[in-house]
Amino acid sequence: MKKIISSILVGMAGMTALSAATPVYLDESKPIEERVEDALSRMTLEEKVAMLHAQSKFSSAGVPRLGIPEFWTTDGPHGIRPEVLWDEWRQAGWTNDSCVAFPALTCLAATWNPEVAHLYGKSIGEEARYRGKDILLGPGVNIYRTPLNGRNFEYMGEDPYLASVMVVPYVKGVQENGVAACVKHYALNNHEVNRHTTNVIIDDRALYEIYLPAFKAAVQDGGAWSIMGSYNLYKDQHACHNSYLLNDILKGEWGFDGVVVSDWGGTHDTPEAIANGLDMEFGSWTNGLTNGSSNAYDNYYLATPYLKLLAEGKADTKQLDEKVRRVLRLAFRTTMDRTRPYGSLCSPEHLEAARKIGQEGIVLLKNKGVLPINCTKPGCRVAVVGENAIKMMTVGGGSSSLKVKFEKSPLDGLRDRLKDVAEVVYARGYVGDPTGEYNGVVTGQNLNDDRSAAELMAEAVETARGADYVIFIGGLNKAAGQDCEDSDRAGLGLPYGQDELISALAKANKNLVVVNISGNAVAMPWVNEAGAILQAWYLGTECGNAIASVIAGDVNPSGKLPMTFPKSLEDVGAHALATYPGTPRNDGSKVVDCSYDDGIFVGYRWAEANGKEPLFPFGHGLSYTTFKYGKANVDKSSMAAGEKVKVTVPVTNSGKCEGAEVVQLYVSDLQASVERPRKELKGFEKVSLKPGETKDVTFEIDADALSFFDPALHAWVCEPGTFEVQVGASSADIRSKARFDYVDSYALK
Ligand code: GLC
Repeated sequence: MKKIISSILVGMAGMTALSAATPVYLDESKPIEERVEDALSRMTLEEKVAMLHAQSKFSSAGVPRLGIPEFWTTDGPHGIRPEVLWDEWRQAGWTNDSCVAFPALTCLAATWNPEVAHLYGKSIGEEARYRGKDILLGPGVNIYRTPLNGRNFEYMGEDPYLASVMVVPYVKGVQENGVAACVKHYALNNHEVNRHTTNVIIDDRALYEIYLPAFKAAVQDGGAWSIMGSYNLYKDQHACHNSYLLNDILKGEWGFDGVVVSDWGGTHDTPEAIANGLDMEFGSWTNGLTNGSSNAYDNYYLATPYLKLLAEGKADTKQLDEKVRRVLRLAFRTTMDRTRPYGSLCSPEHLEAARKIGQEGIVLLKNKGVLPINCTKPGCRVAVVGENAIKMMTVGGGSSSLKVKFEKSPLDGLRDRLKDVAEVVYARGYVGDPTGEYNGVVTGQNLNDDRSAAELMAEAVETARGADYVIFIGGLNKAAGQDCEDSDRAGLGLPYGQDELISALAKANKNLVVVNISGNAVAMPWVNEAGAILQAWYLGTECGNAIASVIAGDVNPSGKLPMTFPKSLEDVGAHALATYPGTPRNDGSKVVDCSYDDGIFVGYRWAEANGKEPLFPFGHGLSYTTFKYGKANVDKSSMAAGEKVKVTVPVTNSGKCEGAEVVQLYVSDLQASVERPRKELKGFEKVSLKPGETKDVTFEIDADALSFFDPALHAWVCEPGTFEVQVGASSADIRSKARFDYVDSYALK
C-alpha cells in the first residue's frame, strides 16, 4: 500500500511541477477568459498590434514567441478557395487543394430546411479544417433588395426570418470543426455597383426589421465567432469601422464577443479603425479582388500608424487590449484548441451532402404534366439545349470562385441518368460566355463557337423537333454583369437571345422543360409557352446529378423560392422609387448616396402593399404530388406578454407519390398604429408525407413574432389588437387563416 501511496504522491508532485511550469494561457483546463488575460499580459505592444492586421493576403500574425499560431482565413461561402501565394490573388497552383463546391446559398435558402443548413455548415467546415483554415469567410446573409445585385447568389434571399433561421445551423456546423464562421457583409451591402463608395441612408425601422435580423441571429443564436464588415458606408462611416453598426449594435446591443474582420480593402482610416470597432484589418490597398500594390503590411492602418499613435499617447492601450482580447479569444476557440476535429476533404459524404442540398433546393416553378419525364417506351429521345448544360459554373463570380475536384454538368448528369432509357442529344443553342478562368484557375473547357446566332438556333430547333422531351438549360452565369461580385446586372431579362430561342423551341416541341440556372430572379416572357420550369440555382460539384435526379423523378422537388420573381423591375421597390443604385454627391468625395426609401417594403412586402402580382411569389414551389391543408386552429383566442399561441394545421399528401411540403406561417397585424406589411413570414416547417398521409403541423407564436421596431423607443413593440395567422404553400397561396387578440402591450429592447 505504501508503494501505491508514494507513487501517487510522486505523480501528483510531477503534475504540480507540470501545472506550475505550464502558463495559464497554455493550460487547457483553465477557462478561456483566464487564458486570454494571461496571454495578453505576456504580449508586447508590437505583438498586440501585429495581431490586428494581415501579414499576407489571407493570414494574420500570431505570437511566435509565445507559441500562439497565426490565423489563416479562406473564402468562401460555397467551398474552400485554392491556395494563393503569400501576397497574390492568383492561385498558387498547388495540386492538393481542389475542393467540393457546395450549392450557392440561394439554393440552401430554397431548401427551407435548417437540418440541411447544418449539414452544409458541417461539411464545408470539415473541408476548411482539413485545409488548415481557421476562419471561413462566409456565409453571406445580405438581404435581396434588387434582382440586379451581382452577389445575390451568395446570400439567402429577401426575407429576414428565413435568412435568420437558415444562417444559425450553418454557423454552428462550421464552428463545430473549430473553424470560425465570418458572417458577411455587415451591413447594408445589397448591391455591387459603387460598392466601396455607396453610403446607405435608411431609417432604423427598416434597418432593424429587414437588414439586421440575420446577422443578429447568427451572433445571438448561432454564436458566430467573427463578422465581416462591408465595403459600403452607413451614416457616412465605412461599415468596416462604423461606430453605430459595430460599437452600438453588434458589440453593444447584441453582446458580440468575437472578432470584426474588415472586408479586403474595406479599411480607410486609422483613428476610425481604432475607435469604431474594427479588430482585424485585411486586404488594404486592394479593391478586395484585383488592384493590389506592394502590400506593405506594416503600412496597414492598424499597423505602424497605430503604433505611432500609441507611442505619441494619441491612442490608449485600453482600446488596443479590447481588440487583442477578442483576437486571443478567437485563438482559443480555433488555433489553440487541440481538441478540434481533423476535418476531411472531397469525401463521399461531402459529395452526398452537395447533391442533397442541390436536390432539396431546386424549385419546380411550373409543371403542366411534363415532369418527371417518362422514357419507358423504346426509342425515347431527349434533346438538351443551352450553354448552361455544359458550362462550368464553379469558376468565376468573384471571391466565391473555386477549384473543384470535378463538376458534373447538367448534360453529363442527364446522359448518365438516362443512358439506359433514352437517347440524349445536345445542341448549344446560343453562345454566352465562353471564358473559363479566374485568378489562374481554368475550367479547361473550350466553349468557343463561331457559328451565328441564327445557325445555333436553327440547329437547336431541328434537334428539338421530334424529340420526346426538350430540356433547355440556360439562365445566367458568373461573368461580370451577370451573377458576379463587383458588378450588377443591367436588367431583369435573360442575356444572349435566350428568350427568342426558348420560344422557338416551344413552337417546335410542346414538351419543353426550361431549367433556369441563376442566383437571381429573371424575366420569363415565355412562361406560358414552356411545359415546365425549374429554378436550379448554382449547384456546384454535383449540379448535373441533382438536376437529372429531379427531371427523372428520382427526387420529388421540394424547394421554395427565397425571393420574389417579379414580372418587371418596376414591381420592385428599389426600382419603382428609383433609389437604386443611388445619387452621386457632387462634392468630389465619390460618395454615392443610396436612400432605401422602400424601407421595410422589400420583396413580397412591397409587391403586396403595391398590388404587384409577381411572376412567381416568394415561397412558391411545386411538387410532383399535391398537398391539402386543413383548417388552421389557434389554441387560444387571446394572449398576453409572455404567453404563446399554438397554431395547428393538418396537411395531407393528396397525390400519388411521397413528397415534402414547406408549410409557411405568415402574421398580419390587423390593427397596427403604424404602417406594416400585409403579412410577414414568422414560421415554416418542411414536412415529408407519404401518399394519403396527414400530419398536424404546429407553430408557436409569441409576442416577438407580432412586434415591429419602434425607432422612437428604440425597441421592439407589440401593440394590443387582433392578429391573423395565414398558413399556406407560398406567400400568395394562403390555404387557411385564424385570428386571435393580443391583449397586452409591451416593448422590449
Ligand atoms: C472580397 C469580398 C469578400 C471576400 C474577400 C476576400 O472583396 O467582398 O466577400 O471574402 O474580399 O476575398
